[in-house]
Amino acid sequence: MKQKVAQKFAEIFGEGARMFASPGRINLIGEHTDYNGGFVFPGAVDKGIVAAIRPNGTGKINAFALDLDDSDTFGLSEHEAPSKGWARYIFGVVREMSKRGVKVGGFDTVFSGDVPLGAGMSSSAALESTYAFAINTLYGGNIDKFELARVGQATEHNYCGVNCGIMDQFASVFGKAGHLMRLDCRSMEFEYFPFNPKGYKLVLLDSRVKHELVGSPYNDRRASCERVAKVLGQEFLRGATMEQLEAIKDKISDEDYRRARYVIGEERRVLDVCDALEKGDYETVGKRMYETHWGMSKDYEVSCEELDFLATVAEECGVTGSRIMGGGFGGCTINLVKEELFDNFIATARRRFCEKYGHEPEVYNVVISDGSREI
Ligand code: GLA
Repeated sequence: MKQKVAQKFAEIFGEGARMFASPGRINLIGEHTDYNGGFVFPGAVDKGIVAAIRPNGTGKINAFALDLDDSDTFGLSEHEAPSKGWARYIFGVVREMSKRGVKVGGFDTVFSGDVPLGAGMSSSAALESTYAFAINTLYGGNIDKFELARVGQATEHNYCGVNCGIMDQFASVFGKAGHLMRLDCRSMEFEYFPFNPKGYKLVLLDSRVKHELVGSPYNDRRASCERVAKVLGQEFLRGATMEQLEAIKDKISDEDYRRARYVIGEERRVLDVCDALEKGDYETVGKRMYETHWGMSKDYEVSCEELDFLATVAEECGVTGSRIMGGGFGGCTINLVKEELFDNFIATARRRFCEKYGHEPEVYNVVISDGSREI
């Protein structure tokens, strides 16, 4: 990918580009907990975005999206926004870096990616982190890594209409090969966890179903959580107990009640998984993954028929843990599978999914990799 991007850059803009990359992510457990001040357990993957970039001494950004074979030119200020949806991610990062005092100038850039779009693996965070990291390096920004992650998050909020949490951008910036990260999204403290489950594999099954995440369904979930936290008199749902939730049941809608029930349960599950990982108890990890899946499906209502089907097939094949991953409304399941069951599971899932939905799921083996960097 690096070579392809460099070559295209040279073809369009000439020599002298520097190259940057940032990954997509997986998340073992802790879904929709980040914006509730809870814990998440992500890791960066070996799929991501690569960009070639070179300051051009003008007030314009000339961007070329290699995979879309599409270009856009836009300016640095708020009223010079791009017309293309994909370019808004770059523009948003430029604006957010400027707001933080970085003297960003015009540049030429080409980028390409291999994070499957809409698979729940955060292709947009990979794009934001790549440009945040690159701009910081090229324009002497001195912005620390947490703030670079926040630049990506603020881009989603202010330029792309998604009120996301910090998990995706954090994972993309801070990723470390062979390690998952447990992040406390309230204190922003985190720890690297070596992750090498002997005898098991982590694999993603991409349903290739995309239900629109941008805009309301995701933001609606967040708004439900914030309403319940407010009734509880707390800043976040984090730390609330089921008993506290039961006590205010009459004051909130049934829908908000079920959303909060999922989030409170999920917080417990992440902590259980941490304990279980320390003991090498993957059976417990897997059980909690299934519980998360059905919580996301029934209470949080961010699953879909195809993903419920994949989780059910996994269970029938004896897979240790399986669940929908990421924001939801389509995308992947993440599966923790014993090595000896792996081949049969993949073959069965492919066949049965295809019989029912007319296409096979895509299979990605998870390789946990490094975060944002110059390459
Ligand atoms: C999306 C958001 C994240 C997080 C997940 C769900 O990926 O970008 O902030 O909320 O959904 O865990």
